Parts: sequence; structure tokens; C-alpha cells
Amino acid sequence: YFAHVEQAPEDPILGITVAFNKDPSPVKVNLGVGAYRTEDGKPLVLDVVRQAEQQLISDESRNKEYLGITGITHFNRLSAQLILGSDSPAIAEKRVATAQCLSGTGSLRVGGEFLARHHSGPKIIYVPSPTWGNHFKIFPFAGLETKTYRYYDPKTKGLDYEGLLEDLRAAPKGAVVLLHACAHNPTGVDPSQEQWEGIRRVIREEKQLLPFFDSAYQGFASGSLDTDAWAVRRFVSDGGEVFAAQSYAKNMGLYGERVGALSIIVKEAGIATRVESQLKLVIRPMYSSPPTHGAAIVTRILSSKKLFDEWKVELKSMADRIISMRHELFEALKARQTPGNWEHILNQIGMFTFTGLSREQVEYMTREFHIYMTLDGRISMAGLNSQNVPQLADAMHSAVVD
Ligand code: LMR
Repeated sequence: YFAHVEQAPEDPILGITVAFNKDPSPVKVNLGVGAYRTEDGKPLVLDVVRQAEQQLISDESRNKEYLGITGITHFNRLSAQLILGSDSPAIAEKRVATAQCLSGTGSLRVGGEFLARHHSGPKIIYVPSPTWGNHFKIFPFAGLETKTYRYYDPKTKGLDYEGLLEDLRAAPKGAVVLLHACAHNPTGVDPSQEQWEGIRRVIREEKQLLPFFDSAYQGFASGSLDTDAWAVRRFVSDGGEVFAAQSYAKNMGLYGERVGALSIIVKEAGIATRVESQLKLVIRPMYSSPPTHGAAIVTRILSSKKLFDEWKVELKSMADRIISMRHELFEALKARQTPGNWEHILNQIGMFTFTGLSREQVEYMTREFHIYMTLDGRISMAGLNSQNVPQLADAMHSAVVD
């Protein structure tokens, strides 16, 4: 029955790690997947996560029972508060339906399928061009048609604001618009607050589009949880409907625990109750109910003032380390007099720099310098440290000059 099955290509992001693992070179560097590394190049388990795990282990009242279909209720409330703000009127008015899901991907997938079943507008989602590659797989499998809107301008290495507005204005009324809440992946280019306002006006007033935020980097981009949630909160504050997918992979370093949340903000409490009941019908046949451990860690951290305050300090130090790597890389290229303007390394936000390097240049850097990165020229800044910055700068210089 299966002789016809063809070899599938590796995932464009996770496949880079597969190739990296096969390379025997002692100097290899993985700047592909967005995963934080310490200054020593090691994965980091946050101290607050260790503390929360200790508490969980020593709490003998805990058991391994199934969670409910939408996960831990307390986790859901705390997650909604984290993204919307603890004083959010939408939460007070019970207009938010939240489900614990499997990190960002799972939250987007559940939200996408809910929309495919229940959205009374067109079942089309507009995603920025470019966007995280998985968006193009998640939404069609969920049952939504995927289209793109202009976002990044390679000439300025910044936002194509006019193109973005034009494309949203051309979208059919009621279509869904995927927005990166902060630290756009892969470009590191975010709208200014003024531009967000312009986008919001087109979405709300001109076209009645439906915003779906992908929030994978709250606190990780600027170092401030509130700053990084500004756009989501602005959209929610106008009283309109909003979808928000949250991931705790990056900001709590819980990558493999697969912990995240989908919040759907609607106009009345009664609607939120019915929406939640329908989310259960999406989730139950897909994976029954979510896993406990990661969400229990997050619940401990978000509900203890002590752990929450310590988390913010650790989060800020990760964000600051990444920002300092931007300066080191920029200075290293300047010192080598690498042709081109590299200011965008300093200006882009979050985990990634969208270098502007071509596929051929990236392949050359991998072949000659054992630098692994995605073929679109994206570098995970979180994988850099003072030891490997010179190697990356040499590789980039050589790729540009040769
Ligand atoms: C990335 O873009 O590298 C991360 O979001 C990890 C992933 O799942 O692709």
C-alpha cells in the first residue's frame, strides 16, 4: 500500500537543525531555529522554571489525571491576563474564551479550525509576506484559504506600510488578518505605534476585517511584557473581536513542553461561553486534552508574585543579551568594512535578523564556514555569542565580497 510514498523535504526551519546535527565540524554554529542560547552556546532553563518544577515535584496533592479539554482553568485566566493586561475590561466582562493549546502552532491550528467552522465572513486568512513558513501549512490544513499582504520592503529593509494598507483595503470584508504581535518572524520589522493605529483603522473601520494575533515573543522583543503586548491590547480596547495565539516557548524557554493558549475575544459574555463550547469540539477529536506539566509550570510562575518578578528579570536579561549581539555583529562587520549598509541589524526587533543575504550566499556560508541558517537569510540572534560572532562576520564578509 505504501510503495508510492515519496520522500518529503525537510522542514525549512527544523530541517536546518537536522543538517546541523549531521555536520561533524567542531566549529559549526546553528543560527537556524529560533531557540535561545546562553553566552556559552547552551540551551537555558530559566531559574524560575526550575523553582516551579521543584514546587510541583514536592506537592504530593498533585496527580496525573486528564485535564479538561481546554486545559487548566487557572492557566487560561492567567494567560489571558498576561496578553490582555490584568485590568482588561474584556476579561472583567467575561468576553474572552481561552483554551490551553500546544504552544503557538497548536493555538493557531485550533483557532484556524474554529474559524473554518464558524466564521461568518470569508474563510480566508491574509498573512504577511514574508511570514513564518508554518503559517502556510497550519491554516490550509485547518480549512482556511491563505493569501498574503505586502509587509517587508527589501529595498528599505523595513515595513512596506503603504503596500500593507493597500492590500488590506483590497481584502474582502470580514476576511481574517494574521498579525505578528511583536518581533515579526522572520524580518524583525514591526510597525510603529502610529502605523499600528493606521492598520487598526483599516481593519476595523474601513473593512471590518478580523485580526488574529500570533504572539510568540511577549517580553522577549523589548524586554517588557506590556510593551510587547501593546498592539494586541490596542485592538482589544476598541471593543472589536480579536483572536490571539500565545506561546511560552521563547519567553519562558519552554520550547519542548508545548505550552500556549488561544484567546478569542468577542462582544458579549454569552458568545464567549458558546465559543468555548465549540473550541472543545475542535480539540477533543484532535488530541483530546492538552498535557499538564508545562502549563502547571506557567501557572506557578504567573500566580506567584515572587516568581513572576524573577521571571521578568530573566526575560529582560535574555532580551538584552540578544540586543547586545546585534551591536557586536554590527561592529564586527564595520571592522571588516563589509560592503553594504548593515544598520538593519541594529534596527530590527526580537529574535531574528533578516540579513538580506541570498540563498546562494547562505549556502556558501554553510559550506565554507559551517554556519547554519534558514535559506531566506534569517539569522537567529539568540544563537550568537561573543565567540561565534567573529566567525559569522567572517562568513558574511566573505559571502558578500566573493
Ligand atoms: C522559528 O521560527 O525558528 C521558531 O518559531 C521555531 C519554529 O517552530 O519554527
